[in-house]
Parts: sequence; C-alpha cells; structure tokens
Amino acid sequence: MLNIIIAATYDDMSRRAANIMTELLQEQPHCILGLATGTTPIGLYDELVRSYTDGEISFADVTTFNLDEYCGLPQDHPQSYHHFMREHLFCRVDINLANTHVPDGMNPDVDAVCSEFEAEIYEAGGIDLQLLGIGSNGHIGFNEPGYVFPNNTHCVQLTQSTIKANSRLFNSINDVPTEAYTAGIGTIMRARRILLIANGAGKAAAVAAALNGPVTPQLPASILQFHPDVTVVLDEGAAQDYFTF
Ligand code: GLP
Repeated sequence: MLNIIIAATYDDMSRRAANIMTELLQEQPHCILGLATGTTPIGLYDELVRSYTDGEISFADVTTFNLDEYCGLPQDHPQSYHHFMREHLFCRVDINLANTHVPDGMNPDVDAVCSEFEAEIYEAGGIDLQLLGIGSNGHIGFNEPGYVFPNNTHCVQLTQSTIKANSRLFNSINDVPTEAYTAGIGTIMRARRILLIANGAGKAAAVAAALNGPVTPQLPASILQFHPDVTVVLDEGAAQDYFTF
C-alpha cells in the first residue's frame, strides 16, 4: 500500500519523514534501519539529531545498513557515503559504529562484499524501515534503469545521467566514480517498511511515473507499487506531476 504525504516545503518534508523514524525508534529501540545518502535526506538527519539531542530518541541499540557506496573512494573521501553518514548522522548521535554497515567500496572482491552485506542483513533479522531517495531517472539506491530488477546487493556501472547529476558534489565530472555497490531491488523490497522522500521539481517526473506508471525496470522505483507498506513524503515541487500523470 502506498501512503502519500505532500509537505509544503523541504523542511516540512524532512520533519514529517523524521517523525515517522522517531516513532519507530521510540517503539522499537533495537530496530534495524536501512539508510540512504544524497542531498535529500540531509534535513531528515538534522531532525533526527535534534530529536536525539532533545532526549526523545536514542540510537544506542540501533543497527543500520546503508544502501550504497561508490567503488574506489576511501572511507575518508569527502564524497564517500561512509564519510557522509558519519558527518550527517553517526558522529552526532549515540550509535555504536560497529553496528553501522556501509558496503566497502575499497574492496574489489565483488562477491565477498555483496554476499557479506546480504548475510549481515539476514543475520540482523532483516530491515524494519528502509529510507530511500530517488534519482531523477527513477533509480533507488544505485539501481539504475535496465532490463531486469536486480535481486541482491551487486556492483553497478553508473549511468552517464547519474554521473552527471552527482558531479555537482565533486571537483570535476572525471572525479566521479563510474561504479558503485548497491543493495538490490530485492534487498530493498524485503524491508518490512519503506519510506521514500523526494523534493524539488527535478524529481517530479520520476516520482509521478514511479507511483502512477507501469511497473518496469526502466524506472526502478516503480517496483515500490508492489510493496505492502510504503510511505512517500514529497514536497510540493516533487509532487507537482503526481495528480496529472
Ligand atoms: C544518489 C544515491 C541515491 C539517492 C539519489 C538522489 O545517486 N545513490 O541513494 O537517493 O542519487 O540523490 P539526491 O538526494 O542528492 O537527489
């Protein structure tokens, strides 16, 4: 079931999505969270840090799994997702870093990285809530448009459109890695609950097609229509094509 929430602004989107996660953390302090990177969730992480600072939630017993990581970027590279998570969340709350998992982009042994990541999720008991952003081409995690829905964690070649979109965060487009490890569509769909957030008109077409269009690997986020428990929080920009699709 898709539950759509339309927020007035980016801050409102961030607050509403953070409230959903805060409630989960209060009800299930030992929960397993699937986390996302990108510009979109920065405000949500700020809200979670505020709730933690105000004593409303603790991450002491939380375990996390991040969706993806660039191949070949050291953990301390400013654009690595390891670095992002420490900067925006992990180093600002009481989480035990040993309970955080981000695919090891520096390990070239694809089979080892991917099978270990899936095994760790399984052993933890599965993901209670998976946070997702969406690429403007409809990608989730780094599952790019293609001809199949990849099941498990795997290594992907990034599309030119994603490399171009993400180059805004690098010194030059040539510095953007061309490969990444990503949780698969199956990995994402096995989460018990999904929370997708999107803001800005640049995401409107992908959001409308994902929620209202045909389910197709050409638009990976469309698979979410088949998940039993999805909440989508959009700002007005990202929602602008939703009702007219
Ligand atoms: C990135 C990430 C995704 C993210 C998406 C959107 O490439 N791999 O997990 O959801 O693209 O990013 P942003 O939030 O910066 O628009």
